[in-house]
Amino acid sequence: MVEAFAVASGKGGTGKTTSTLALGMALAETHDVTVIDADTGMANVLFHAGLADVETTLHEVLAGDAAVEAAVYDRFGMRVVPCGTSLAGFERADPTRLREVVATLARETDVILLDSPAALDSRSAVLPIVLADRVIVVLQPTVPSLSDGLKVQEYALTYGTGIAGVVFNRVADDEDIEGVARKAGQYFEGETLASVPESDAVRAARRAGKPLLAHAPASTAAQRFREAASGLTVRDIASGDVADRFRSAVIPEES
Ligand SMILES: Nc1ncnc2c1ncn2[C@@H]1O[C@H](COP(=O)(O)OP(=O)(O)OP(=O)(O)O)[C@@H](O)[C@H]1O
Ligand SMILES: [Mg+2]
Repeated sequence: MVEAFAVASGKGGTGKTTSTLALGMALAETHDVTVIDADTGMANVLFHAGLADVETTLHEVLAGDAAVEAAVYDRFGMRVVPCGTSLAGFERADPTRLREVVATLARETDVILLDSPAALDSRSAVLPIVLADRVIVVLQPTVPSLSDGLKVQEYALTYGTGIAGVVFNRVADDEDIEGVARKAGQYFEGETLASVPESDAVRAARRAGKPLLAHAPASTAAQRFREAASGLTVRDIASGDVADRFRSAVIPEES
């Protein structure tokens, strides 16, 4: 079985990459998890997972220069497929090849998490949402962030991708999270999975090049991400069906 989730937000800097790795580690306690850095223009997973020095990444795979397996690294109990950070690598990468990459990886995992780009302004930006079964929307508890997240939801639903739920991140002590969560409950499909505080532990984990759940497993933020993961019931979709669906996904034309 395998289900693919895109971790997306609309707005930049809400904590998608942080959340992808935190949810990935939490889900890895019960599932076989593969994390893919599908933010191929502004890749960051490598910095969060101690993979900044690796030679082969998703860029080389998408350029047709390497096999998928060469870009898969076993880290923190997950399989991680990082992406390179060079502009040249991005330019050589063919985003449409992501379909085949996901289809290949889907054969040997239970959960695929696609760390997604901010915005919806290019083929490579929307592809993770189009390919995923469901989107996990990561929001800061503000009206502009909700508004951007709603656009992601609208886009996802247009392509038949569901909404797994919303993670509020970087929540300040004095924030009216109840009020915002109520609004989110009205407008978003899927439930509020967790509310993660603004936290020094999160920043320290990034600086250490480790996912939060590896660096500060006892922190409140880590606990909240574990809560979010336990609220996700991973669906039992036959791997063959998923692989076929990825392969045949219709990719929107460049706008
Ligand atoms: N809960 C938090 N508390 C404190 N800092 C956080 C928290 N979540 C994320 N950050 C920090 O905010 C920055 C952005 O986080 P992250 O890279 O996960 O966001 P993103 O949505 O993936 O960004 P982008 O849109 O650029 O891909 C990072 O420096 C990260 O360490
Ligand atoms: Mg990111």
